[in-house]
Amino acid sequence: MNFAPLIIQGQQASRIGLGTWALGGGNDWGPTEQSAAVETVEAALAQGINLIDTAPVYGDGTAERLLGKALTGRRRHVLLATKCGIVLKGGRPDHDLRAESIYAQCDASLRRLQTDYIDLYQIHWPDPKVPLEQAAQALARLQEQGKIRAVGLCNVGVEQLRLVCQNTPVACVQNPFSLLDNSRRDVAQFCRENNIAFYAYGALGGGILSGKYRQMPNLRRCDARRYFYKYYFGTSFEQAQTVGRRVQEIAAQRGVPASAVALAWVLAQEGVSGVLAGARSAAQARQNSCAVQLVLSGPEQEFLSTTVKTEKAE
Ligand SMILES: NC(=O)c1ccc[n+]([C@@H]2O[C@H](COP(=O)([O-])OP(=O)(O)OC[C@H]3O[C@@H](n4cnc5c(N)ncnc54)[C@H](OP(=O)(O)O)[C@@H]3O)[C@@H](O)[C@H]2O)c1
Repeated sequence: MNFAPLIIQGQQASRIGLGTWALGGGNDWGPTEQSAAVETVEAALAQGINLIDTAPVYGDGTAERLLGKALTGRRRHVLLATKCGIVLKGGRPDHDLRAESIYAQCDASLRRLQTDYIDLYQIHWPDPKVPLEQAAQALARLQEQGKIRAVGLCNVGVEQLRLVCQNTPVACVQNPFSLLDNSRRDVAQFCRENNIAFYAYGALGGGILSGKYRQMPNLRRCDARRYFYKYYFGTSFEQAQTVGRRVQEIAAQRGVPASAVALAWVLAQEGVSGVLAGARSAAQARQNSCAVQLVLSGPEQEFLSTTVKTEKAE
């Protein structure tokens, strides 16, 4: 196995996890019907997905509240991952990783999720005002209290991760990783070497690698696909299309959805334990879950990899 599996108190996470940012709707992704959101969660669970990732800022609590309802009676079958460190101040997201704020954020998530424990509690983004190691120790205290079962980090580089690991055991790292963004490969490698699970997000580039955007979409300025993924305008759009055409070519040859090919490529990368695939409908959740059975051949991987962007983040 070229990755560390995510195992929390003996329960192993599925390699495809359900991402719920879009299910939270709001300004970032536009509205999602509540009934469609619940069906998406149910479809994912029915396909054997047991890892669900969310955050308080996804629709300003909407995604967490939705999961609280949708998981009634099924909570113990699911590994629920949420986050702390981004709070809304005056309607705008801001960093806050002060210990007392983390404790309050955790209690608020527990209430919205209608649960008394969070399986994986993750620092959403480093806060420039608080050392990451210090914030991680606040999560370790929550773990001692039984409010959370494991500590995770998102959006970190190797050096940040190394520092945190000196004092706080980290179960999982969540970073971007896709055919369009290969910048955190070193983190995935570090995770594999140190028995830390690595879950990729944005593996579909926010949806563009599903092949549905052949023309540049007209997105609202505040849409996540404009300010966060940045593949939806200018020359980046053309570059993403070049990658997307290769994905579609393999998908047509294999008779599978393009999204499954894009996800399978990420799953095949060294150190990648799994992928958090966002879905906004039951059909998308079903399509994405089948990526785990899709094993790409060496030549197929090479064909896809030639277009991968290898710029370094830090
Ligand atoms: N830690 C962090 O900082 C961070 C950052 C970003 C994401 N995440 C997590 O990672 C998860 C995944 O990332 P993401 O949701 O941002 O991006 P993504 O997985 O790359 O793209 C998800 C979007 O693509 C579209 N899509 C999904 N499956 C599809 C299919 N089979 N066919 C066609 N379109 C499809 C859907 O949007 P439409 O239907 O609207 O097109 C969906 O919302 C998030 O939901 C979140 O849980 C974490």
